Amino acid sequence: MKTTLELPEIDFQSSEYLSQPLKTLASYAQKFKLGRSKRGIEILDYDLCRETILDRRFGTGHPKLMKVLGMPEGPALSYKENSISFHDRGETRRRLRIPLTQLMGPSGSERFRLDIKNVVKNTFNDIPKNENVNLIKYLCDQIPSKVYCYWLNAPQEDAEFVSRTSHIVQQVHTRDPATAQEVSAGFEALLDYVDKRIEYSRKNLGDDLLSDLIKATDEGYLTPSELRNWVVKLAEANTDNSSHQIAIAIIELSSRPKIWKKLGQDSSLIPQALREVMRYHPRSLSTSRETLENVNLDGYLIPKGEAVFPNIGAAHWNPNYFPEPEKFDINRPDKPTHLNFGGGIFSCIGRFAVTIEIEEVISFMCSQFPNFEITKSEFSHSPMFTSASVLEGNFKTF
Ligand code: HEM
Repeated sequence: MKTTLELPEIDFQSSEYLSQPLKTLASYAQKFKLGRSKRGIEILDYDLCRETILDRRFGTGHPKLMKVLGMPEGPALSYKENSISFHDRGETRRRLRIPLTQLMGPSGSERFRLDIKNVVKNTFNDIPKNENVNLIKYLCDQIPSKVYCYWLNAPQEDAEFVSRTSHIVQQVHTRDPATAQEVSAGFEALLDYVDKRIEYSRKNLGDDLLSDLIKATDEGYLTPSELRNWVVKLAEANTDNSSHQIAIAIIELSSRPKIWKKLGQDSSLIPQALREVMRYHPRSLSTSRETLENVNLDGYLIPKGEAVFPNIGAAHWNPNYFPEPEKFDINRPDKPTHLNFGGGIFSCIGRFAVTIEIEEVISFMCSQFPNFEITKSEFSHSPMFTSASVLEGNFKTF
């Protein structure tokens, strides 16, 4: 068996990657199935990515991430160590996910649609028309954090805090120790906020997600601290990813006027168009795992405790699985499925809810603003994420 030192090296700082990340990943994926980078082992082949995401020999990569970041002792680290992300495969992880996968599964999430429609409509009411607007600030950041406020039966004005704090704590994924203090303070602010919301909702149970989670706690499915951790986790995982993926969808769809007009005329095409957006330009360029034992992967010995990254970007642009991957085609077959939300026992809890959010934003925009025009947009790509760093546009009403 070969060692990982024999794997080809991938440099995420190369000008090639920085200027054309997906094309560059696709070119690697055509030459080799596995590579290595500064952060660990990169898996570039689609089937191998899927297998690794699901394989029991690979566990969560989160504890290593916290070590790299050097989070100081305190309430934030303690939250992290007890949240779902630190629980490896096994009974506790399975048990912890049950209430959430039920409440936020396909039908559970459908019940958020009306609230989501309201959020979208109200957000657009507040956006200036016929002038240049910063869509990240006025639209993309607003939607997920306002929806989170609905889930918690919290005032919509809290959305600004939720969005800002979620952006801060998401810096854990930069792997940059310089962010550790700020990230810790962000988590502490979220923990305080969530404690207050739980206290309020306990006395005012209603028809919302937090009330349902409190009921599940009272029925013994979660402990009070597990409940608290989940509600913080939903803020942590929700806003940032969703905001960027909304922006990516707006950019990829509205910059193709024919498709934009078509979606405005026939909203039944929106789900398949969004599947293609998430294939062509996923927010998640990779997810992470750690080997729980020595693993033979495609003839290479990956030692126990190694950080492994199923490289979703490379998998999505592999022509063996997605013919002509650089072509944006909303009529692609729905298999193979995209990997933007990971999979298996670690899969994204919010995937159905956020898909509805993006569907509703796109549906509203392309029917109400068929002439919407982007005036400026920029992406940046880290090894982990696609980010929409700039998005400005004009909501023309004529
Ligand atoms: C477009 C937006 C989003 C993207 C691209 C995304 C992507 C992901 C990915 C790739 C994972 C890791 C999966 C794996 O390793 O197999 C994940 C996990 C997770 N996501 Fe999302 N996510 C998004 C939105 C959300 C939202 C809206 C929520 C909740 C409200 C959420 C909650 C979670 C949670 C709780 C986990 C951890 C699950 C676990 O460890 O069991 N995500 N997400």
